[in-house]
Parts: sequence; C-alpha cells; structure tokens
Amino acid sequence: MFKFSNNDAFASIIGHSPILESVIRTAQIAAAADVHILIEGETGTGKELMAQALQQSSKRANQPFVIINCAALPEALVESLMFGHEKGAFTGADERKDGYVQKASGGTLFLDEIGELPLSLQAKLLRFVENGECQRVGSHEHETVDVRIIAATNHNLLQLMDQGKFRQDLFYRLSVVTLQLPNLQQRRRDIPELAKHFLLEAAQRNHTEVCTLSADALTQLKQYAWPGNIRELKNVCAHVSALLPGEVIHKENLPLDIRECKTSSSSGYTLPEHGIDLESLEIDLIKQALKHSGGNKSKAARLLGLSRDAFLYRLKKHDL
Ligand SMILES: Nc1ncnc2c1ncn2[C@@H]1O[C@H](COP(=O)(O)OP(=O)(O)OP(=O)(O)O)[C@@H](O)[C@H]1O
Ligand SMILES: [Mg+2]
Repeated sequence: MFKFSNNDAFASIIGHSPILESVIRTAQIAAAADVHILIEGETGTGKELMAQALQQSSKRANQPFVIINCAALPEALVESLMFGHEKGAFTGADERKDGYVQKASGGTLFLDEIGELPLSLQAKLLRFVENGECQRVGSHEHETVDVRIIAATNHNLLQLMDQGKFRQDLFYRLSVVTLQLPNLQQRRRDIPELAKHFLLEAAQRNHTEVCTLSADALTQLKQYAWPGNIRELKNVCAHVSALLPGEVIHKENLPLDIRECKTSSSSGYTLPEHGIDLESLEIDLIKQALKHSGGNKSKAARLLGLSRDAFLYRLKKHDL
C-alpha cells in the first residue's frame, strides 16, 4: 500500500481507508503535473484541506494561494474583483486595482463553490482558463497571468450543466483532473483515527488533558450518518473536549442526534430470516453502480465505497 512521509503536504489529510488513499495517490500525481484540478465532494469532506495540500506539494508552494468563495461574490463587483479594474472604470474606482487573478500571479487560485459562479463571469473565466488572458474592467488591453486553478464544488456540475447553469466548455477545461472526495459514510473505518486526531487537537488548543472515547461512544460514532461529514465530527470532538476535558467520553456524553441513532447493525442493513444470495446481490449492486455512473468505473467504485482496484477485481471475479 502507498505510504506518504510525515512531512508530505498530504499528511494533514487524516485517514487510511482505501477509497481515500486512492484519491490521495491521484492528487499527489496531479499536484506535480501543474494542471487545473476540480475537487468534488459533499460539504465538510475536506475539499479546502485537499486544495491546500495540492498547493503545498506543487512547484507553486511558495507562491500566493488565493481563495475565492464564488458564492459570496457580489454580482455587481464580481468582474472587477476577479480581474481588477482601471482607475475611473466606474464610480468609486479612484485607483487602478488588481483582482484576485493578478494577486495569485505565479501561484494558485482556489475557486471554492465554483457551481455558484454567475454565467456572465463563467464566459470570461473560460478565456482565462484557456490561455491565461484577462482584461481589467475599463481596459482595452489584454494581460496574461500565470495561475493554476483548483476549483471545488459540492454541487453536481453535470446536473447544473443540464439545467443550463454551468458551461460545459468551462467544466471540461477545469476538470483536467477530477478528485472526488468520499463522504464519511464511505470511509467509516477512518472515524476512530479522525476522532483521536480532533480530540488531541482540541486539547492542545484549550490547554487541557486529552479526552478518550469509550467503546460504546466509538460504536455510536461509527453508526451515525454524518450529514456534515468530517466538519461535523470535528465539531463533536471540540464539543466534548470543551465540556469534559481529559475525561473518558461515553455514549451518554455525545450530542443527542448521535447517541440516538440506530445501532441494530453496523451497515444499517438487516439480514432477512430466509437469508440472501450474496454473490447475486454483489453482481446486481455492481451493475446498478455502473448504470448510475454511466459506465464510469471510478465513479461506480465510489458508489460502492470501494477503491478502483477493488472494484476492478470484483468485475473480473464476476466476469462482468
Ligand atoms: N481527512 C481529514 N483529516 C483531517 N481534517 C480534516 C480532513 N478532512 C477535513 N478535515 C477538517 O474538517 C473541516 C472541514 O474541511 P473543509 O473545510 O476542507 O471541507 P469542505 O469540503 O471544503 O467543506 P464545505 O463544502 O462545507 O466548504 C476542516 O476543519 C478540515 O481541516
Ligand atoms: Mg470548503
């Protein structure tokens, strides 16, 4: 199995589940290749953390890393914020100003929540992504800026494209490499390691003794659905660390949602009395995953919580 050293930029991404390690392997190769990257994943799955690791392990590590939240850009100012403006370009523009693009020159631009970027700006961004050319508001000159783009989204961009809300050409330019971060349900085996890490982090931050988790608390954490993913787990660890510093945390000490989630079976699936045909079920699920993913094997593997290699092995095993 692939291992990365502690001083590796990716070491801040905690977890050893195969599905995560497979994404990290791709990320390490992509970081060095200096191509644009699209990171997809539900809220709280670590997209920004991944973007930082990509930047830190790239040849642009010592250059600027500029973060833009596309959802928070005021519509009227979006173009000048992004590409800068000339003096007198509009009322209040009393000096020439750089935009995010110029500020990131030589480095990396992290376009967070790219799915929220207005269509009008998507067209201008497309030209910039294609050849690094942009135009300040109020200028007739083009300038060329060397910037690598890492974009992130928790929307399904394919769906936004179908709805005419996201440009297909921009999507293909940005997604030279796509990294799909698994949600916490797909990597439950990482929960103990992540929880330990966050409890230690909280204790260090608060200058207190570190909490430990009892077996029943850990079981409960492993059962819970984690709609807020890793951010939610981190918040729970911060919560118990603040209230019970240095103590052993039991199930009763966990927030209500978590301690009341069902624990009947570890998978949430109950085996019927008459049993099942596991082999046929596996074949059927693999076929369904391939159908959902439109034949994309990496996506199908992710739908089943498997690494691509483990998925390919099963395809071969069942002669599919
Ligand atoms: N694998 C991980 N190891 C350690 N910490 C992590 C990991 N993944 C995420 N985190 C932490 O969880 C929190 C949420 O991560 P991050 O902000 O990167 O998520 P996100 O996908 O950008 O979320 P959103 O879509 O809501 O913006 C951060 O504090 C981050 O440091
Ligand atoms: Mg984020």
